[in-house]
Amino acid sequence: MSDASRPIGIFDSGIGGLTVAKAIKETLPNEQIVYFGDTVHMPYGDKSSHAIKTYAKRITKFLLNQNCKAIVIACNSASTVASNLLDKELKLSVPIINVIDPTVELVAKSKKAKFIGLIGTKKTVSSGVYAKRLKSLNANLKLYSKATPLLAPMIEEGYFNNNISRTIIHSYLSSSHLGTIDTLILGCTHYPLIKSEIEQYYAQPIHIIDSSIVTARALKNKLTKLHILNKEAHTKNDLFYVTDYTTGFEKAAQLFFGEEIKLKESRIFD
Ligand code: DGL
Repeated sequence: MSDASRPIGIFDSGIGGLTVAKAIKETLPNEQIVYFGDTVHMPYGDKSSHAIKTYAKRITKFLLNQNCKAIVIACNSASTVASNLLDKELKLSVPIINVIDPTVELVAKSKKAKFIGLIGTKKTVSSGVYAKRLKSLNANLKLYSKATPLLAPMIEEGYFNNNISRTIIHSYLSSSHLGTIDTLILGCTHYPLIKSEIEQYYAQPIHIIDSSIVTARALKNKLTKLHILNKEAHTKNDLFYVTDYTTGFEKAAQLFFGEEIKLKESRIFD
């Protein structure tokens, strides 16, 4: 198999990363994807760094065994602690893209972004990784962060675009400095599903950064640079693995991916 025709491996704690998989399919329709959701261990946002690193290493090995030509960490919590480690410890011979770096680079370059908000899991927000990386690129930017741990399970349970989601979103966004921002980073791959509700919350128009789209573009640039972009349409099926299969996950997965998909169980942690 030529390098260009090999699949792209994408992983997340569960099914939220399917928003990134969807953006990758839209941006790179010729690419085959192998998605891996660690539904046994989700949410990662409440786990220790040690645990997340262990899971991320094992999943990356699985994706490399599937002959993936690039790995995308479609989870902020995992990107927070695991991206450097995977490169160093596994000595990857394939590129690894995380959701944080391309997002931070985009915001740091933006002429409009001055007062920036970040919402994400406890892990992502408490790590301070967005603030550190933003500061290193542009010291003038101000970042207001808020952990919003109820949002991912809320979305996964199908609670969005309704009164309950509006109440929770309102409660989080109104209880902090997030009222005065001009830009908001969606620091969790579940959140593109509530982007329009967040837009509606703000009276003034703000720029909402959806890292799934930014990551898909960064992946395209990387594959182009390395001359491993698939120029021909692939005929193979995309594959979607989870560590724990339930019909509930499969139903929710469709919400995130926007089309019907079949999940396969792979018990790599047994
Ligand atoms: N999708 C994960 C992220 O982007 C959030 C869910 C979790 O905590 O596992 O951080």
